[in-house]
Amino acid sequence: MTEMKDKIDKNKLPGHIAIIMDGNGRWAKERGSHRIFGHQNGITAVKQAVEGAGELGVKYLTLYAFSKENWCRPQEEIDALLDLMVSSINSETKALIENNVRLLVIGDMDSLPPAIVDKLIDVIDRTKGNTGLTLIVALSYSARWEIARAARLIADDVRSGKIAGEDIDEEKFAHYLATADVPDPELLIRTSGEYRLSNFMLWQLAYTEMYFTPTLWPDFRKEHLHRAIVDFQKRERRFGKTSEQLNCD
Ligand code: IPE
Ligand code: IPE
Ligand code: MG
Repeated sequence: MTEMKDKIDKNKLPGHIAIIMDGNGRWAKERGSHRIFGHQNGITAVKQAVEGAGELGVKYLTLYAFSKENWCRPQEEIDALLDLMVSSINSETKALIENNVRLLVIGDMDSLPPAIVDKLIDVIDRTKGNTGLTLIVALSYSARWEIARAARLIADDVRSGKIAGEDIDEEKFAHYLATADVPDPELLIRTSGEYRLSNFMLWQLAYTEMYFTPTLWPDFRKEHLHRAIVDFQKRERRFGKTSEQLNCD
């Protein structure tokens, strides 16, 4: 039987895949367990996604791990998620380095506990020279926060005379986002059968192909990633043009 992975055209890989990792709570509930059990089991899926993307040669993988809205969850769930982050950073740093993965983080670092920020900065620094997969973790992230922050930073630079207001175009604006220098995602995957963006990368997803799967995040494996990529490769991306126009320059 042909494996899903063999159906992937290596010459047409999405350069950047973003994933909204959703469904941990429901996965645990189905098992009569606490939501936190679902988050713990989501770590296997994170490793599978990172390994799977790295093996294929995908250049960027962004994982939505914690939204700004998630701060409204019960405190014990937030604490458990933060603990999981710390233990995952501790246990996975070596693997990231060995596998040539570069770590980046997007989100409001000021709202995270300083001990976690320090750890993240350390791993970001230790992996900054790596040339394989760039793993971007969205932590305490919200797209509207990111866009409003960009506007504020631009206002500062206009006020100080660093740039002129009339010079701001889409390209310049994008440089003030947390993803400056990162190409936009070509493929977005959301698990758990929800069909929404939940305040994720609203600017960057303007022309991204979306793939929704009912699979709950803790059940997500490399095969699911392969399936999403195969589906992506069957699509025609027109960027506003007609189908016929795509075949000429
Ligand atoms: C995703 O799973 C993980 C985070 C948002 C941190 P959920 O915790 O949202 O799981 P469901 O959607 O309640 O099943
Ligand atoms: C989105 O999932 C955030 C993350 C995956 C980190 P949520 O479960 O928080 O989103 P909603 O509340 O269902 O939109
Ligand atoms: Mg959810």
